[in-house]
Amino acid sequence: MKTYHLTNTQSDIEQASAILRDGGLVAMPTETVYGLAANALDGEAVRRIFEAKGRPMDNPLIVHVAEFSDIERLRLVSEIPEKAVKLAQAFWPGPLTIIMPKGEVIPDEVSAGLSTVAIRIPSHPDAQRLLKTSGLALAAPSANTSGKPSPTTAQHVIDDMEGRIEAVIDGGSCSVGVESTVITLATDTPRILRPGLITREEIEAVIGAIEVDHAVLHQLENNEKASSPGMKYKHYAPRTRVVLLRGSDERYITYMNRLYARDPHIAAMCYDEDKPQLDMPCITIGGMDDEKAQAKALFDALRAVDDLEDVTSVYAHCPEATGVGMALYNRLIRAAAFEVIDLPEKRIIGLTG
Ligand code: TXA
Ligand code: MG
Repeated sequence: MKTYHLTNTQSDIEQASAILRDGGLVAMPTETVYGLAANALDGEAVRRIFEAKGRPMDNPLIVHVAEFSDIERLRLVSEIPEKAVKLAQAFWPGPLTIIMPKGEVIPDEVSAGLSTVAIRIPSHPDAQRLLKTSGLALAAPSANTSGKPSPTTAQHVIDDMEGRIEAVIDGGSCSVGVESTVITLATDTPRILRPGLITREEIEAVIGAIEVDHAVLHQLENNEKASSPGMKYKHYAPRTRVVLLRGSDERYITYMNRLYARDPHIAAMCYDEDKPQLDMPCITIGGMDDEKAQAKALFDALRAVDDLEDVTSVYAHCPEATGVGMALYNRLIRAAAFEVIDLPEKRIIGLTG
């Protein structure tokens, strides 16, 4: 299959819309990450998303619409909870996904057989134009091969999806860089299933107390059921081993330099300020106190890990899991397959403490 490389001109957006109306797949930029879109109400088209990504069929998709009134007009949900209206007023269009009871029109492929559906109104101008021009609701997971870091540039999409989808729209690099915050309103107390740029604190300021699902920060035990099917899968993982080091900046630097003296096949994933103090190859993800810059850079950094020559392990400095840091921690801990080393605060001899 030939994959068309489209731009965001009106004629290209019209071509992409025609592809979508014919049941094809188009990768579109959003403010979070690139999404792999198909007509959400066409089960056959949606099925092709799973094939192109190699995604397990039990992992449901987010349905994107241009504006709030589309949710009712297309009967995507059976009920709009009051808290959804408040969240929509505060955060849409933008990087928030709200899970609500699904409408009958939602194909099983989208909801993976659940009784709920995830809805998002993206703010990216190209996504907005594609939604409006096509007149469709678009089911769109991140446009990466399942398990790989989400794509934040059109090139990332091409690297994963060339020849598997009809088209990709190049809208530049995504400004947020991590996927949307996912909140479910189907539980008694609203609950964050995936953290993103919109934080727990920001949401609580609008709808009151919410919970954070256990799987956001912890590894699920074998017999534990995931509230969000996506959380049980291996995610964001480069081929190279990634390890998180938890401890002060000073400890991180000392530990890394000592480790490198013994093992020249390691690299650091670190903050800009760390780099001048580290003797080894470094992938930087932004300033230490700039979590938004770190979020924007994270997936590109995780993709770059596999391009390092002769490197077998990458050690990342573990972020604090608060505010936007919760999103960074949630992605990194999965990229590291939950391998975390706690660095002792006292200076020690040896490396394994
Ligand atoms: O920022 C984003 O959300 C991007 C852009 C393209 O919008 N999309 C995205 O989709 O990240 P995806 O499929 O990669 O992640 C959707 C997550 C998955 O973890 C999935 O399990 C969860 O949302 N999800 C979707 N529908 C759900 C539902 N009805 N109940 C629980 N979890 C759901
Ligand atoms: Mg994804």
